[in-house]
Amino acid sequence: MTVLKTERLTLRPLHPGDTRAYAAMRYHPEVAKWLSPAQGAPLEAARAAIERYAQSWRDRGYGPWAIVHDGRLIGHAGLNFVPEFGETEVLWSLHPDAWGHGFATEAGRAALDFGFRTLGIALIFAVTRPGNRASQEVMKRLGLAYRMNVVYRDIDSVWFDIDRLNWLEQSP
Ligand SMILES: CC(C)(COP(=O)(O)OP(=O)(O)OC[C@H]1O[C@@H](n2cnc3c(N)ncnc32)[C@H](O)[C@@H]1OP(=O)(O)O)[C@@H](O)C(=O)NCCC(=O)NCCS
Repeated sequence: MTVLKTERLTLRPLHPGDTRAYAAMRYHPEVAKWLSPAQGAPLEAARAAIERYAQSWRDRGYGPWAIVHDGRLIGHAGLNFVPEFGETEVLWSLHPDAWGHGFATEAGRAALDFGFRTLGIALIFAVTRPGNRASQEVMKRLGLAYRMNVVYRDIDSVWFDIDRLNWLEQSP
């Protein structure tokens, strides 16, 4: 499983010891309101998500990472294959304490670079609710462009994407 270092962050796979910190981030009300609801109690749901991500790393050689800043788990970001669309998405979430510092953009940039340069993925998309301006700003900062509205896991969503050629041109 790959570990990446950026200017300010470490991106490393999540492990069972992260369950409590991960649940505090992922199921914080200001984060959870934008994401799929937890199946069961937050700690159980966090444990299951960490296992799912580990499975993705084993099966595909990529998956979401923990975002660690100054030794603290502040969020998750990374790549996730979505069978419904047959494509790979880039995702991010941060604990509200860590918003407003560019950490999601920094982690998202590393994830896209890993996907396009190391894995050679042809296209990477991101989806969110139309009202999630903060996430759409991250998408735009990273060069993803709005393409269409889609229904994703029963939720009306906006779809942004970027292909490998455009990524390599904008970040040589
Ligand atoms: C989506 C989410 C990760 C975005 O977080 P964010 O902090 O706004 O995004 P970034 O980390 O890229 O930070 C950008 C902000 O930091 C500021 N900033 C400060 N220092 C910066 C730096 N060095 N580099 C870039 N931006 C910086 C930017 O000006 C911007 O501020 P603004 O929102 O006032 O314009 C966050 O809102 C979140 O976790 N939301 C809940 C979960 C969620 O919606 N996840 C996505 C589901 S699709």
